[in-house]
Amino acid sequence: MGQHIQGKLEGKTAIITGAAAGLGEGIAEVYAKYGANICMVDLSPDVEHTAARIRGLHPDARIITITANVADKAQMIDAAKRTADTFGTIDIACCNAGVCRLAPFEDMTDEMRDFHIDVNIKGVWNSCQAVIPYMLANGGGSIVIASSVTGDIVADAGEAAYAMTKAALVGLTKCLAVEYADRHIRVNCSQLGYARTPMVEKMAIESNPADPESAIRDIAAGVPMKRLAKPTEVGELFAFLGSDESSYITGAQMVIDGGSTLPETMSIGTN
Ligand SMILES: NC(=O)c1ccc[n+]([C@@H]2O[C@H](COP(=O)([O-])OP(=O)(O)OC[C@H]3O[C@@H](n4cnc5c(N)ncnc54)[C@H](O)[C@@H]3O)[C@@H](O)[C@H]2O)c1
Repeated sequence: MGQHIQGKLEGKTAIITGAAAGLGEGIAEVYAKYGANICMVDLSPDVEHTAARIRGLHPDARIITITANVADKAQMIDAAKRTADTFGTIDIACCNAGVCRLAPFEDMTDEMRDFHIDVNIKGVWNSCQAVIPYMLANGGGSIVIASSVTGDIVADAGEAAYAMTKAALVGLTKCLAVEYADRHIRVNCSQLGYARTPMVEKMAIESNPADPESAIRDIAAGVPMKRLAKPTEVGELFAFLGSDESSYITGAQMVIDGGSTLPETMSIGTN
């Protein structure tokens, strides 16, 4: 409860998409702890309840909420304008909103494919185009994009649409990082393994409808640290990348996976 324990985001304004639940909620909680002004954006009106919970933890946090769809560019332009109108500018964008539905590739409909493209790729594209004019006017900023280890590094069966879109975000990150480096906008992406969020609980049901908890236990068993990430652990990475502490880091892919992409086999070794 109470005061910011450290103000490394003090005076900075951040827009966080997908902030009603899961990682976006964890990111918003950590941003509030570090003193940022926050605009929490989500498709779901539940974002208001989530903001109320975070205000309860950090009573002097300055938070607004906006119900908007990242896949709709006009809504994101409006969200960016309302954020800048409220707080003066936008320093940081956490492009976190994303979706994942599993299906065998031969059963995956074009609608399912396009749903992933619309939210995961166009949603980040729209968010970046909405905030960059404010960052340019303000002399710089930081964009943090939620990619994944899925697609760019590893993949499981059924993730074709998701993996494709998350890998695409690495390309977007690198291009924007180069394009805006001399105008002081840094662009980085996170590559998370697994955190326990509503998304992962849904994936566990799709993988093992009879016993989704066992699917979650199996994920943990495959991670060298033997657990999933907490959303606030991912929030700490987003806070570092958003803050001036990461001032020379741009175009980076930051793996945060408890070591899950490290093992070469499941059988060879001494433990
Ligand atoms: N949880 C993980 O293990 C994991 C791993 C790697 C990457 N990621 C990525 O992290 C991000 C967040 O994942 P999560 O697990 O918190 O997901 P989640 O489904 O638990 O929460 C996502 C939030 O985004 C919102 N949202 C969905 N579509 C939206 C849209 N069109 N516009 C605005 N808001 C929208 C949802 O309402 C929800 O509040 C995603 O981009 C995901 O791909 C998650």
